[in-house]
Parts: sequence; structure tokens; C-alpha cells
Amino acid sequence: MWQNYYSVTSVEEALELLAQFGARARIVAGATDLLLELERGGRAGVDTLVDITRVPGLDQITVRGDTIRIGPLVTHNHLVGSRAVVERALPLAQAAWSVGAPQIRNRGTVAGNVITASPANDTITPLWALGATVTLTSLRGERTLDFPSFYQGVRRTALAPDEMLTAITFPALGRHERGMFLKLGLRNAQAISVVNAAVVLGFEGEIISRAAITLGSVAPTILRVPVAEQYLQGKTLTDETIREAARLAAAAPTPIDDVRSGAGYRTEMCRVLVARALRALRSGTERAGWPDDPAMLWGAHRATVREPLPAAVRHEDDLGDTIVTTVNGEPYSITGASNKTLLRFLREDVGLTGTKEGCAEGECGACTVFLDGVAVMACLVPAPRAHGAQITTVEGLAAEDGALHPLQRAFVDTGAVQCGYCTPGFLMSGAKLLEEHPHPTRAQIEQSITGNLCRCTGYYKIVQAFEQAAQGNGT
Ligand SMILES: Cc1cc2nc3c(=O)[nH]c(=O)nc-3n(C[C@H](O)[C@H](O)[C@H](O)COP(=O)(O)OP(=O)(O)OC[C@H]3O[C@@H](n4cnc5c(N)ncnc54)[C@H](O)[C@@H]3O)c2cc1C
Ligand code: FES
Ligand code: FES
Repeated sequence: MWQNYYSVTSVEEALELLAQFGARARIVAGATDLLLELERGGRAGVDTLVDITRVPGLDQITVRGDTIRIGPLVTHNHLVGSRAVVERALPLAQAAWSVGAPQIRNRGTVAGNVITASPANDTITPLWALGATVTLTSLRGERTLDFPSFYQGVRRTALAPDEMLTAITFPALGRHERGMFLKLGLRNAQAISVVNAAVVLGFEGEIISRAAITLGSVAPTILRVPVAEQYLQGKTLTDETIREAARLAAAAPTPIDDVRSGAGYRTEMCRVLVARALRALRSGTERAGWPDDPAMLWGAHRATVREPLPAAVRHEDDLGDTIVTTVNGEPYSITGASNKTLLRFLREDVGLTGTKEGCAEGECGACTVFLDGVAVMACLVPAPRAHGAQITTVEGLAAEDGALHPLQRAFVDTGAVQCGYCTPGFLMSGAKLLEEHPHPTRAQIEQSITGNLCRCTGYYKIVQAFEQAAQGNGT
């Protein structure tokens, strides 16, 4: 899939490589988009990856005065877990929570989401409504662009081949501003938006002093709807103004038919989502449904950059490309596997076949492992990311004396296994959940397995096993 894989330790090193390799190179962050694009041949000519996930400090969310700055390694789960973002940029937190499943949110970055530039990508819609800018850095200097200047078409942005996105910045919502993001997908998790919408309103008393309304998945880029925004200005939220603003918003896009929806349904759902958001903002219920202490599956290790590398590492086909890593506490030093996913590396080179391949595209969770203590989909992690890292697979769950993990025991006791193909993935998600929440609620259990599919046992016994294992944790 690639020839050269560089794991850098600073932004400067990354910029030098981008300048050297130009259009042949891509930054790799969470790899949840890029790996699939490379596998599907969607990035012809790209043979060099520049992995920035070992650069300390890039996974920070900072609040200075009324400005929020998101670093290039801030993940969707970082946003969900950030009090500042939840309190002062709720639509963005809601969008992040709607992305994929915990294993995807633990690796997928906001920067990657913004740069992939799919009109269905969820964080772009609220960031656009919040008035965000992107800072692009290269050896030539730095420039800051607003979203209308950054986005140039379907999956096209103004990012030059030698540039790296180094920050996303936006004004936090003020005391008299409120907002909301809503998404319609074909299921509650792991769903690409059929339509999404963000609404941000500023108030003077009950009068709307400013409005920003953006719609996703209905045009080549995220769409802002000034007609509806201008209509709302100076008005209060009544049934009539809500109805009319939603009608105006739905009249703006010209969506397409595709496998997820017909154009007509998309248009109608624009109206419904905008009306719902406006009604929630009128009644002050826009935070309803926000998860209380959600399951993140990151245990105690919230940071993306947990194990900085002492120096940059180059894994290249024709050079010494040894991956030196630790799996289940055992050291491994493996050559000739740098061009694979972590899933294939574990199964074919380390020889641990407990981790399964169900879909190889992040959808089923059968490949769930812990990377530096955080649950991830191994099929979406490049194998060289394992260099200098700690990996835990399902073979590492039992105690050294062979005693089963309490969740493994509970799976046996409750009969939560039929064919067993999905079981390693469920065990890994569950073990991380129980580490994070020793006494999980039913909601937390359900959140923790949104990234794991079982096609034969069904979920009742699996949830029962989780509950039985949690009972063993005492009170
Ligand atoms: C199963 C599954 C479910 C998903 N569900 C959703 C969903 O519900 N909603 C949604 O919006 N998305 C979803 N996605 C898409 C994806 O997870 C997100 O877009 C994610 O945020 C991408 O971030 P990343 O860090 O993985 O990007 P990567 O794959 O690492 O990179 C994506 C692109 O951005 C570039 N890039 C990354 N960082 C930088 C940088 N700092 N500077 C310059 N270029 C950079 C890369 O070169 C690449 O071109 C899903 C993906 C999968 C596999
Ligand atoms: S999620 Fe990785 S194999 Fe399905
Ligand atoms: S037990 Fe067969 S897929 Fe889950």
C-alpha cells in the first residue's frame, strides 16, 4: 500500500518530508480514512506516509479567552471528553459523538475529518457554523483560511501537498449564544450521514441577533444557508418563524440520489432537522440526550501520544524495516511487515490469530485490540504504528496463570458465544469498558459495543455477560 513510512517526532520533520516528497506523500493521523483510500486505490501516486501520531503536544484542546484551538491529533473522543467543548461548542461535541464507534473515535482525528472533505463528514458542519478557520503550515510559512476558502468541491480543499494542518480555531459560544448539531443516519452508530445540520444562534433577550445554519451531505461541500439565517435575524422563535426558517433552509440544497437516500427525502429531512434544532434551542433542550459519562474505551490513557519516539523512524521496503514492539508483554522484532495493517501483522507475523478479520474496514470490531492502552480497530492501523508501542490482543486478557478474565468467564457462563467469530472483539471492548467503568450502566454497555457486530448470538446474552462480569467487581 505504501513504500516509505516515516514516524516523525516533530512538526518540522513532517514538514521537511512533505516538502521533499510533495504529492507522493500524505500525513497519516488516525488512518481511518487514508488506509481505506489507499487500499481501494483511491490515492494513485501516494507511496510515502508521514505518521505524526508520536509527536507530543499535538493532541491538545486549548481555550484562550473566547477562542478554542484544536490540535491536529485531537480525536473525536477527545472532543467528547472535553468539558470546554461540551460547554462552549456543543454542536461540535454532538457531531464528534455521532462519528463511527468508540474504536473509530479513539483514532480518527478532527483534522483528518476536515481534510478528507467528504460532504457527509460530521464535524465540518458544526465547525463551519461556528466560524472555524484552519491553520496550514509548510516550510514556506503559515496561512489561515476560513472554511468557505478552504473547501473547493467534493473531497477537494486548498491544502497544498507540502502543507500540514496545524490547528483548527473557532470562537467559543458566548453566554447569549447556543447551538445544536443533528444527524440522520441509517442506524444509530457506524452510520454515514444521510443529512446533518448545525444551527448556531445568538440572542438579545428572546430576539435572534445572529444565526448560522449549515447542512451536510446535500451538496458538494457543506452548505451554509444565508436566506434562512437572514430571515431569522431580528425575530423570535415562534412556531411560524421556525416553520418558515426550516422551509427556507430546505429550499437551498440540491442533493443527489445515492445508496443511502433519494434526493427528495434528503431535502425533506433538511427541513425536519433544522426545525427540530430550532425547537430544541427555543425550549433550551439542546443538551437533552447528551451522554452522562460516556464509554470511551480509552481506559486511563486519554492521550493519543502516549509513547513518544526517541527519534524519527523510517520503515522502508528496501531498508531495515524492523518493527520492534511489545505484544501482550512479550517483545517482538519483525522485519518485512511494514507495508501491512496491524491486523495482518498480528495474525501473519506475530502469529496471534485471536484477533479476527471480519470486514477489514472498521465496521465490525472483530479486530479490536488495545494500542498503548486504547481500544482501536487493528484493520485500520498501519503496522509500523506498532513500533515502540504496547499492543494487547485477546490472547493477553487472561491472567499469567491462565485464569480467564472475568468477562471471558462470564461469556462461558451465560453462553454469549455461538460461532465465536465476533467474540474476541466483544471481549476487548468489554474488558476496556470494565477497566474504565467497573460498574457500567446499561447505556454505557450499549455504547461500548456500538463498534462490534455479532451476526449469530445476538446481543442479549453478550450484554448479560457484561453485566455478570461487572457484578464480580463488587460494590
Ligand atoms: C467504520 C468507520 C466509521 C466512520 N464513521 C464516520 C462518521 O460517522 N462520521 C464521519 O464524519 N466520519 C466517519 N468516518 C470517517 C473517519 O473516521 C473520519 O473522517 C476521521 O475523522 C478521519 O481522521 P483520521 O485521523 O483517521 O484521518 P486520516 O485517515 O489519518 O487522514 C485523512 C486525510 O487527512 C490527511 N491529514 C490528516 N491529518 C492531517 C494534517 N494534520 N495535515 C495534513 N493532512 C492531514 C491525510 O493525509 C488524509 O488525506 C468513519 C470511518 C470508518 C472507517
Ligand atoms: S473492524 Fe476491523 S476487521 Fe472489521
Ligand atoms: S457469535 Fe457468531 S458472529 Fe457473534
